[in-house]
Amino acid sequence: MIISIYGAGYVGLVSAACFAKLGHQVVCADVNEARVARLQLGECPIYETNLPELLNEQMQQGRLQFTCHLKEAIHASDVHFIATGTPALDNGQADLTQVFDVATSIARNIAKNALLVIKSTVPTGTSDALESHASDVLKQLNKPHHIEVASNPEFLREGCAVNDFMHAERIIIGGSESALNTLETLYDPLVAKGVPIIRMNRRSAELSKYASNVMLACKISFINQISRIAEALDANITEICQGMGMDHRIGPAFLNAGIGYGGSCFPKDVKALIHVTKSLKLNASLFDAIDDVNQQQKYWPIERLNEHFQNQLQDRVIGLWGLSFKPGTDDVREASSLVIINALLQAGAKLRVYDPVAVPHMKAQFSASTDITWCETANETLMISVDALVIATEWDEFKTFPLPTLAHQLQDAPLIDGRNCYSLSDVKRAGIAYYYSVGRTALRFSHVKE
Ligand code: UGA
Repeated sequence: MIISIYGAGYVGLVSAACFAKLGHQVVCADVNEARVARLQLGECPIYETNLPELLNEQMQQGRLQFTCHLKEAIHASDVHFIATGTPALDNGQADLTQVFDVATSIARNIAKNALLVIKSTVPTGTSDALESHASDVLKQLNKPHHIEVASNPEFLREGCAVNDFMHAERIIIGGSESALNTLETLYDPLVAKGVPIIRMNRRSAELSKYASNVMLACKISFINQISRIAEALDANITEICQGMGMDHRIGPAFLNAGIGYGGSCFPKDVKALIHVTKSLKLNASLFDAIDDVNQQQKYWPIERLNEHFQNQLQDRVIGLWGLSFKPGTDDVREASSLVIINALLQAGAKLRVYDPVAVPHMKAQFSASTDITWCETANETLMISVDALVIATEWDEFKTFPLPTLAHQLQDAPLIDGRNCYSLSDVKRAGIAYYYSVGRTALRFSHVKE
């Protein structure tokens, strides 16, 4: 089958490469000419494990092409996947402009009936609205064709998206019987390997995506809220999570306390669900709380620094390890590090910052600031003595950094660990002077002059 995918962002590119790997002929279209030109040269424009290799492999095998001429893609294809962005508007509502623009182009250019599949995360009811929009465009143009819309939300995590596609825990498809049969055929190679495919109506499919993301965000905010209590009462959140996670009804995943969730999905999807719930005049207090707790939690390192330095952060030199919203990606959208950097700059501090891959993205946002030194290694941040070190992303190279060396480099400077990278016993053994971690008792050692 020939598939076209509109949008060469992270969902579009991963889906394009993976559908090609499943044996389909794929055309991936994007209006961004520079991005398409790079892709045509075999360059992968995003940092994603295994994706560059897969893109190259599939292009070489002739199953994957890129174009910025939507018409070309539209004419060639049997099934059209929309994977364009749905950014949040100021009121939290998802902006569907790009999704509708693609549908308009498809309606204008098709020469046969078409199946349009929405992969982008869209509010419930979008498939219905898109189908009637496409039908209006066809009517205005007196075209005899029919466009049907189906929903097939994605559940890919940045950093392991290729693996998530090829070894999905489930595939959700929503639409008419015939649309679902077509979609099921596309996923045949995965279904044959035992991946469950769940058929439902398209509104349920659309809402399943928000419900899944907001449930995960809820787990994170829940455990972060418990971590505040644990910290205040000298309990240990790591032990609590271990105890909770063994109950199979709760499970251990997404129970890592930290400095909040970021990225291009959870923050946007929680806000979009709040918007929808309120516009239905329903109670959104649970979703509001998930968002509020998360905003607050991003300030946890600033609270610890203010506590340690009695609100005197002016001219302090603060090291910062980790900028991306999570390890395995260079994406800094809604990252907790953004809140930390802004708050520290506002307080008059100087920063020495390092991330294994995300420095260029962050640097672009703070190019005017002279108070940030961008470092090339974790060690370089500590070459000049810092007043404190904050960890905002749990990259492996931080988790495996030799703690005795760190203790030596930090001297009396506190280590503010926003991602609980180390066990309390290892920190104690290494002799780190002050260690603040999320939901665990702060460690302050006697060898330090108080
Ligand atoms: C998320 C979902 O996990 C995917 O299933 C979904 O397809 C995707 O959004 C999407 O809608 O496109 P992603 O944003 O890549 O994927 O990142 P996650 O791995 O889910 O992490 C999100 C945030 O939660 C990160 O900032 C991470 O640090 C934080 N997190 C995660 C915690 O603070 N604690 C945890 O226990 C787990």
